[in-house]
Amino acid sequence: MSSPAAAKKVHIATFGCQMNRYDSDRLAELLAAHGYALAEDPASADLIILNTCSVREHAAQKVYSQLGALKSLKRRRPGLIIGVGGCLAQQEGARLLENVPHLDLVFGTDALEEVPALVDEAVRGRRRVHTPRPRRATLARTSVAGPGELKALVTVMQGCDNYCAYCVVPYVRGPERSRPAGEILEEVAARVEAGAREVTLLGQNVNSYRDPAGVDFPELLRRVAAVPGLWRVRFTTSHPKDLSPRLIETMAGEERVMEQLHLPAQAGSDRVLAAMRRGYTREQYLAKVRAFRRAMPQGALGGDIIVGFPGESEEDFAQTMRLLEEVRYDFLFSFKYSDRPHTVARHLKGKLSEEVKARRLQELQVRQRQITLAIHQALEGSVQEVLVEGPAKRGQGLMTGRSRAGRAVNFPGEELVGRLVMVRIEQGRVNSLLGRVVTDTTREV
Ligand code: 5AD
Ligand code: SF4
Repeated sequence: MSSPAAAKKVHIATFGCQMNRYDSDRLAELLAAHGYALAEDPASADLIILNTCSVREHAAQKVYSQLGALKSLKRRRPGLIIGVGGCLAQQEGARLLENVPHLDLVFGTDALEEVPALVDEAVRGRRRVHTPRPRRATLARTSVAGPGELKALVTVMQGCDNYCAYCVVPYVRGPERSRPAGEILEEVAARVEAGAREVTLLGQNVNSYRDPAGVDFPELLRRVAAVPGLWRVRFTTSHPKDLSPRLIETMAGEERVMEQLHLPAQAGSDRVLAAMRRGYTREQYLAKVRAFRRAMPQGALGGDIIVGFPGESEEDFAQTMRLLEEVRYDFLFSFKYSDRPHTVARHLKGKLSEEVKARRLQELQVRQRQITLAIHQALEGSVQEVLVEGPAKRGQGLMTGRSRAGRAVNFPGEELVGRLVMVRIEQGRVNSLLGRVVTDTTREV
């Protein structure tokens, strides 16, 4: 290990979902123990790691173009080590090393703990690929410390057993594995100790969380919410087919659980839902949405929609548009279908042109923006509890934070970072609410 004075530097670029962000934090922790300090600037780093995503083709292309951009840096500094980890690495394995001559190291989603040793080998000139298949029996040890930030991410389960027809995740992240509740609670407590006030519990499908002792997700949520010093807990993501009435009850009953639910529908037509192998009908989905709205009328409901799944007709798409009207999503992530390796949908007939997919996506997003704006405008005059995170990216002199429903709230002020304040909303915008602080209600830790 190097002495701190001679510390080497690592730059980690993270793509994709929050699980990758969590893994990057763990990687930073492992590499710090191995003598590598974090560097913001890739040009000053001895080691550059791309933690990648392959859920959609666009995400994979971004990684390849980033790798292309690193070629000249490597030419100028031959000692530089470049590594690729995460889902694209898991998916492509040795092909990545073959296709990218200036790449030194490829490691999979279950190989984080091995990375320091692999980096040492790369430094000694040995190009390595290590992408062990994630197995149900193996569950990588994860972080106990993590960075001392106000908002912490904690992975509670990994992998997915659902095999939706379009999705590569079960192939790259492997089967579902839940971490023992005790270990999660320890990690949450350590993060709170280090300054965290809000925790996001992560999993591909948190509703199928079940630890070896039989603790299920509502019970885990209750236990996490009881960790002393923690103010807020949220989670993502929830598969509609497994969303139980007990989880909704727990969310509504626990004051510290944020009133925000991400419940991806993916499509509004029964025909497409069946082809996607989602395991629910439109009506079953809507019944869950109604249960959430009844239990948490102030809550925010989000979703994911894929447009242009193979065989999606104009009528199918019209049903997705009508779903938007019925649900009135508070926030929505929407994507054009793209073929992914290994998946069933890749072999389906009825692929749609780029033009059709682009037009449908545009129509969907325009309508959703109107819906979000209307919901935000209806909140004008209300008072929201906000956990203050820091200066807003846009808007000079504004601070930003999130409401209990996870909505972004901006307001004039300073020196309130890490506090809970009550903000009266004056203006609802598409991406945020604008207001003024009325009181500081920070609880005693
Ligand atoms: N094409 C387009 N979108 C996809 N997603 C997953 N796989 C695909 C694909 N092949 C979307 C889904 C999922 C989100 C993370 O990404 O909406 O919920
Ligand atoms: Fe992919 Fe479906 Fe699993 Fe979500 S539930 S990760 S969409 S296979």
